[in-house]
Amino acid sequence: MKDEAARILVVDDERLIRWSLDQQLQREGYGVRLAETGAEAVQAARTEPPDLVLLDMRLPDADGVEILERLRALDPECPVIMITAHGAVGSAVRAMKLGAQDYLVKPVDPDELRLAIRKALDARSLRRQVTRLQADAAQGSTLDDLIGVSRAVENLRATIRQIAGSDATTVLLQGESGTGKDLVARVIHFASARAPAPFQAVSCVALPEHLLESELFGYEKGAFTDARGQKKGLFEQADGGTVYLDEIGDMRPDLQAKLLRLIEEKTFRRVGGVRDLRANVRIVAATNRDLAASIADGTFRQDLYYRLKVFPIALPSLRERPEDILPLARHFLRRFLREMRREPVEISPDAEARLAAYTWPGNVREVRNVIERAVILAGALPLGVEHLPAEIADPPALPIRDAPPSAPVAIPARGVRLGEVERELVQQALTATNGNQVRAARLLGISRDALRTRMKKFGLL
Ligand SMILES: Nc1ncnc2c1ncn2[C@@H]1O[C@H](COP(=O)(O)OP(=O)(O)OP(=O)(O)O)[C@@H](O)[C@H]1O
Ligand SMILES: [Mg+2]
Repeated sequence: MKDEAARILVVDDERLIRWSLDQQLQREGYGVRLAETGAEAVQAARTEPPDLVLLDMRLPDADGVEILERLRALDPECPVIMITAHGAVGSAVRAMKLGAQDYLVKPVDPDELRLAIRKALDARSLRRQVTRLQADAAQGSTLDDLIGVSRAVENLRATIRQIAGSDATTVLLQGESGTGKDLVARVIHFASARAPAPFQAVSCVALPEHLLESELFGYEKGAFTDARGQKKGLFEQADGGTVYLDEIGDMRPDLQAKLLRLIEEKTFRRVGGVRDLRANVRIVAATNRDLAASIADGTFRQDLYYRLKVFPIALPSLRERPEDILPLARHFLRRFLREMRREPVEISPDAEARLAAYTWPGNVREVRNVIERAVILAGALPLGVEHLPAEIADPPALPIRDAPPSAPVAIPARGVRLGEVERELVQQALTATNGNQVRAARLLGISRDALRTRMKKFGLL
């Protein structure tokens, strides 16, 4: 959620102070809610959880520190900035020890206030990101974490079991962004006998090329100017475990050659090394590119490609398995409610219908983000259409005109599922040509390779 829309709860018993804080905060684009007493503050935080609280140390009905503790019990991640009278700084320090983010001394200086709020909100969003990453890493590790009722996901689970059971098979994960490649890589590792050994993940685009090489293979002392000592690479560190190479399509060709040797002979050399070392790792590689095309333009080695795709797994987009949308949405709802320590709520039937009808270009990640945002916006209420982003809540009406007479096919008014139409056409072409792939490909105006890719995708091979 953007900070500009952050909701701030202001708790102070002095009307004038409430008023001036309200003025400043509104001017800066925050949503403001005011409370006069401690009881009112707790009530407000319960019904409409704020993103930040400005809390007066001295309230008519309670000590600010006591209210601080009650607010933190409601939402430990919500930052609280204490406002204290001149000369009462000691108690503000006590409040900081109990978890207040910061304190300001009255009369509050507008610039200091602005800065303190920014800092607190930034820290909060960082903390949420870290919690999210930790939760992803801790949760997405077993087959049970792989949500979905579609045939595609059923098959995926079966494939993973098979791979997990076979010790060293190299795996190539292919799928659009957000389809679950990282998750599947972890599930494979933790479902296999390699689970007690490390799982190391590295993205081949995140690091400059020379760093990627030493990150993966390590280096010897003196390999380059600042290589003071020797360092083990990820393959050595993960010995006995799994190395997940994300965005493999971006790996430089000479590194690809080194990787191929590691896969085929289980040996490698550190950067600057002359000794062959051994590492026993399973490689799980992922890409959202068409590697076949990268081979054609010379950026990806064909021999490595064949080595990696011994066990290819194509992760289907969510458009191709719409029946998984609601199970995923409910799964993320439960997860975020738990993480934010909220009471269970449901998704309204209207909202479910909109979710199910949307096409999810960002796939499962987009479902996760949409539900997280909705949970924050909905507070204690059921998730409704009003908590969904506009493109899902009010989908643009499809202007359906009759197809021009010259069009080769016409879309029926109720729409189509492109994946199903594609499968149907591939099937028909094969039937019409008695299974002759060359002729079927010609009928469809695609290459034989492209046909075979689709046959594989649709389980026709
Ligand atoms: N079948 C699933 N069940 C539960 N959670 C899933 C599923 N698929 C994906 N996710 C979750 O969706 C989010 C995005 O998935 P992930 O990061 O694995 O995608 P990716 O394919 O690696 O995307 P990118 O290509 O952008 O790196 C993660 O939080 C992941 O845990
Ligand atoms: Mg990924």
